[in-house]
Amino acid sequence: MSGDMYSAGYRSITNVDYSSVCVSTMRARHSDRPGMTWHQMDMRQLSFPDESFDVILEKATLDAIMVEEKTSWEVSPQAAVFFHQALTQVGRCLKPAGRFVSVTFSSPLLRRRLYARTEYNWSIQKYSYGDGFEYYVYVMTKGEELSPEDAALEKKLLEDTESPPAAIVSMQMEDEEDFLLNIEF
Ligand SMILES: C[S@@+](CC[C@H](N)C(=O)[O-])C[C@H]1O[C@@H](n2cnc3c(N)ncnc32)[C@H](O)[C@@H]1O
Repeated sequence: MSGDMYSAGYRSITNVDYSSVCVSTMRARHSDRPGMTWHQMDMRQLSFPDESFDVILEKATLDAIMVEEKTSWEVSPQAAVFFHQALTQVGRCLKPAGRFVSVTFSSPLLRRRLYARTEYNWSIQKYSYGDGFEYYVYVMTKGEELSPEDAALEKKLLEDTESPPAAIVSMQMEDEEDFLLNIEF
């Protein structure tokens, strides 16, 4: 994507991937493009100074960490930690009023809850593209507050963490029992 961005006129692009193969291949491919640099680095441990970038863009890097999730409807504790580490680094490296752009197939139902945290100190805007095969672009602006809807989402998620949802208390039900009666609220 950054190759296309360079062609479109963006001339100062710092590229990061934790794959050494990816970094060396891309560095060679774009060796005639001054202003592009390539770094083997884990998104969870960026070694750039605080407030170094106007824009940080990820395209499907955060999706990549979800490929081993058992279901696309929940985020495992490991993936949640990964996201938190990565997003903390992104927020640290952004300049004030800088933007984090996230390009993903992940719908707002799943992704918004990961981005909507007051501690990241950013607002969230969402755009979607495509017909049938929709993808999303989330734009976070550092230093802006969450919208009331995103703040309410964060509050609800915190409350849910404190009191987990209903548990099914019995898996050994008689045929004639109404299993709905066995769900504790
Ligand atoms: C779908 S590819 C996106 C490639 C590129 N961004 C593009 O424009 O097409 C996802 C990339 O994320 C990289 N990746 C996965 N986890 C990473 C991490 N923790 N830190 C840095 N890169 C990571 C993978 O090596 C892979 O190249």
